[in-house]
Amino acid sequence: MDNNNKKMVICGGNKGIGLGITKRFLADGYDVVVGTIDDDYTDTLIMLSKLYNHQIIQFLHCDVSEVKSISHFYQQAHHILGRFDVAINNAGVIRISKLEDLTEQDWDITLDVNTKGMMFSCKEVIQYMREDKKGGRIINTASGQARDGFIYTPHYAASKFGVMGMTQSLAKEVAQDGITVNAICPGIIHTDMWDYNDRVWGKLMGNYQPGELMATWVENIPMKRAGKVEEVAGLVAFLAGPDAAYITGQAINIDGGLIMS
Ligand SMILES: NC(=O)c1ccc[n+]([C@@H]2O[C@H](COP(=O)([O-])OP(=O)(O)OC[C@H]3O[C@@H](n4cnc5c(N)ncnc54)[C@H](O)[C@@H]3O)[C@@H](O)[C@H]2O)c1
Repeated sequence: MDNNNKKMVICGGNKGIGLGITKRFLADGYDVVVGTIDDDYTDTLIMLSKLYNHQIIQFLHCDVSEVKSISHFYQQAHHILGRFDVAINNAGVIRISKLEDLTEQDWDITLDVNTKGMMFSCKEVIQYMREDKKGGRIINTASGQARDGFIYTPHYAASKFGVMGMTQSLAKEVAQDGITVNAICPGIIHTDMWDYNDRVWGKLMGNYQPGELMATWVENIPMKRAGKVEEVAGLVAFLAGPDAAYITGQAINIDGGLIMS
């Protein structure tokens, strides 16, 4: 089972930014286990397995809103890979709502997936990395909303600010184990999440037609374009690579200059 390939585990690696990251690590020669709540991954798995047939590529069910599911997923993933060189926590949800319509359920699902799920994923991964004594890299997907809360998403902003605090705190706790913990802050990256954002924010912010709000926001980006999943994957690959060995507890914006802090 074990080979010389490096080992990467990713939760939320089946679509959007996460699929871009999965593809990049496979292209870089990693064995990869993907955790996903969406069980309709067969076509994606077949497509990836055809391209990368010398490497392990496996998809397993994982719902990061349930601690038991997280624990079960990492146990299976560790059994398959033998160790984790890199762990990427990318699963995330967004709900957009005016304050008067925001429910306890909106708050709970957002924080459960984006923050609590990430916390308990980090806990599992760190436990295995410590036992294996080979160090490791953990990369958490935050957001531009971890720098600057956007309107109608206080719960999402809170969840992503939480990712930043968790990343800094854990980075300090595991530095002596040779483990780095960093976060990435994507701006506007064209994925399913952004189609939802465009539609729902668009309605709340002035009844924009589909595509109009996104186009307006993109105009405010100094580089005047949305980001590509491949560009986000490139940053993650850098943070997992040798040139990032002395970087920990950091959050790096990848947003064409949208937020400069
Ligand atoms: N697209 C953007 O512009 C943007 C900007 C900033 C941050 N982000 C963040 O990037 C990450 C990926 O977003 P995306 O744009 O690719 O969106 P997406 O909706 O395409 O992907 C979300 C991912 O999270 C997974 N997921 C959701 N709930 C889950 C659960 N309970 N358990 C396990 N997995 C779950 C989905 O299966 C999917 O893989 C998210 O954390 C998101 O908050 C995205």
